[in-house]
Amino acid sequence: CSGKILGSAFFEPSTRTMLSFHSAMQRLGGSVLGFSDPSVTSVKKGECLADTMRTLEAYCDLMVIRHPNEGSAKPSSEFVSIPVINAGDGGREHPIQTLLDVFTIKEKKGSLKGLNVVLCGDLKYGRTVHSLAKALAGLGVNISCVSPSELKMPESTTTSIQRKHGVSVVEETDLISAVKDADVLYMTRIQKERFGSPEEYAKVKDCYVVNKKVMSMANENMLLMHPLPRVNEITFDVDSDKRAIFFEQALNGVFVRMALISLVLGVRG
Ligand code: NCD
Repeated sequence: CSGKILGSAFFEPSTRTMLSFHSAMQRLGGSVLGFSDPSVTSVKKGECLADTMRTLEAYCDLMVIRHPNEGSAKPSSEFVSIPVINAGDGGREHPIQTLLDVFTIKEKKGSLKGLNVVLCGDLKYGRTVHSLAKALAGLGVNISCVSPSELKMPESTTTSIQRKHGVSVVEETDLISAVKDADVLYMTRIQKERFGSPEEYAKVKDCYVVNKKVMSMANENMLLMHPLPRVNEITFDVDSDKRAIFFEQALNGVFVRMALISLVLGVRG
């Protein structure tokens, strides 16, 4: 990608997604410009998203955007004629995280068909699981959703899975019973910033915590995954368990993004 520039527009905080995109582009020989805090750009002066996008378009060859507004990625891409990659649009979708999650499972397990994957935590506001559930259903995975009743997977997602793939996701609240048959346990953080009030968050905070005891109930080949950041949902003493692969998962984000950028720019190795 020598001579190519990735525009990186992060209107929301990010560690892994943003930096793995930067790392991927730089490892491909390209360069990166952009911002990780919209308050240092003209957004602060009242500039609209369309004008920011049109301006960035002139400075780069493709763009990656993360924005707090649900569904904002698609319209953003329509303001410009260069490729735009969705790095998370509010609580809606996070498709590239899904690519690296699926890559990680495939690399570890060989095939995905028939695997039992448990998605656990904030399935309402967690965008990673919305994108992941749809992809897994299309790959023949059995999906169990474990969450408090307030944080269930949106009905629009479960209905779309049912309609498109003819399969139902199992919904339950008990992590211990779900983990016994799991090939993969995909934990997520309770998305504090997307709650209506601190009281609502306090009610469900720390509702599921994977510790050594939970791991002792699980299959010895189960994969413990997490898109990160973790807050309290996996205790640190679990990190040395060989089944805990979330940092390897984060590393895979670089390779998957290198492949994606190459494909999008039409570059061949
Ligand atoms: C997630 C995100 O931003 O949606 N992290 C990531 O991109 N790897 C998960 C989260 O914030 O909880």
